[in-house]
Amino acid sequence: MSNVCVLGLQWGDEGKGKLVDILSEEFDLVLRYQGGGNAGHTVVIGGEKFVLHLIPSGILRPGKQCVIGNGVVIDLETLVEEMDDLLRRGFEVTSQLLVSDRAHVVFPYHKLLDRLGDGLTGKPRLGTTGRGIGPCYADKMSREGIRIGELYDRSHFRQRLEEVVDLKNRLLTAVYGAQSLKFEPMYEAYCGYAERIEPCVCDTVEFLNRQAAEGKSMLFEGAQAALLDIDFGTYPYTTSSNTTTCGASAGTGLSPRQIDSVIGVAKAYTTRVGEGPFPTELHGPEGDRLREQGDEYGATTGRPRRCGWFDAVAVRHAIRVCGVDSIALTKLDVLGGQEKLHACTGYRLDGNVVGRFPADARELERVEPVYETLDGWEEDIGDAQCAEDLPTNAMVYVEALEDLLGVPVSSIGVGSDREQIIRRSGVNALSKS
Ligand code: GDP
Ligand code: IMO
Ligand code: MG
Repeated sequence: MSNVCVLGLQWGDEGKGKLVDILSEEFDLVLRYQGGGNAGHTVVIGGEKFVLHLIPSGILRPGKQCVIGNGVVIDLETLVEEMDDLLRRGFEVTSQLLVSDRAHVVFPYHKLLDRLGDGLTGKPRLGTTGRGIGPCYADKMSREGIRIGELYDRSHFRQRLEEVVDLKNRLLTAVYGAQSLKFEPMYEAYCGYAERIEPCVCDTVEFLNRQAAEGKSMLFEGAQAALLDIDFGTYPYTTSSNTTTCGASAGTGLSPRQIDSVIGVAKAYTTRVGEGPFPTELHGPEGDRLREQGDEYGATTGRPRRCGWFDAVAVRHAIRVCGVDSIALTKLDVLGGQEKLHACTGYRLDGNVVGRFPADARELERVEPVYETLDGWEEDIGDAQCAEDLPTNAMVYVEALEDLLGVPVSSIGVGSDREQIIRRSGVNALSKS
């Protein structure tokens, strides 16, 4: 069995969690490699909804080994809450979960600085999730961060945290005019969390490479998406990690050569939460309709998602930088009842039509989308089980997207439940083994 990476091709919330849950059945291990509690991955099983922030979506499959890799930034409060919630709902978490000792810890000052800093001190307002992601990755890169493994040497941890809290308090009070944070209760709380997750903590790099050598199959679960990638996304309106395929290697310690194929997840339209350019955004009733039909409200923050038509220019860029083999097209059902559908095929910029995705967010703000228009369908497709069950116009739309993207669609989402997916025969990214 080969190793597969699943990642988002738009601005997040494409339905990665649902796909990873479905595919997990066929893999030995499921790995998260970047991001943190900013992710909200929804899985619906027989009407029961689960939202996962840090734990890989494979946890809902008994016996599957799940790993939070070194590239993830871990909010221990969220992790412990998530573990407790799953335990209450009858899932065996502790024996199935491993947490990297190299992963960085998100502390309360990261979350506070994230919330206070968004839009201040010369930075544009990004509309972050407020989960401390940017400040924690900044500390990692400036080599000021504290890693999971350090929590287990108590006197070392006490000294490190005391020094860092003192520094962050000076920043909080002098620059932001906020109250300082108390060291002792924070230290006590984090010692408690550390104790709680201790059975799961190990050198996951060593563990994963041993598993790979034994021929175990791995499913990599991306968080956020390519257009939020710190290098290839709409900088500075991005998250702070490499959400693209390269992050899977850096965030697990498995070499890039261990990734055999990449499935890109794309919604049949586009959504975005937070600020930043969005060429195909629909304002007014058309956007409201997509939001209501698609239930487009953030799984982590509850914020209404901005909605618009499918953008093939942006997704083509994502496919290129991620090396995508096939596409999992999600939420096709949401487009039912639209008289006409529009897919963006190019951008008009200063009078010329361009097919490239601009590097500069200010340029992307100025482009006007050029659309191909297709006929819609009326039918509810929630019960469709194969491509033949879909209305002709729905398949015409899927095939038009394949033509625009140059990559085959291997599955089609027709509803939120685990069962509501069409896997297309003849197009199977998993058959490469
Ligand atoms: P993720 O972050 O990529 O895992 O996606 P989210 O869970 O944040 O958002 C996707 C939303 O769409 C969730 O509410 C899913 O339950 C839902 N969803 C996933 N696939 C489909 C689909 O094919 N049809 C419909 N109607 N909903 C879907
Ligand atoms: P999943 O994994 C959608 C967005 C935020 C903001 C920007 C930076 O569920 O697809 P951050 O808190 O990361 O510093 O915020 O990125 N964002 C997401 N949008 N889905 C997500 O995750 C996101 N994670 C972050 O809204 O615009
Ligand atoms: Mg999400």
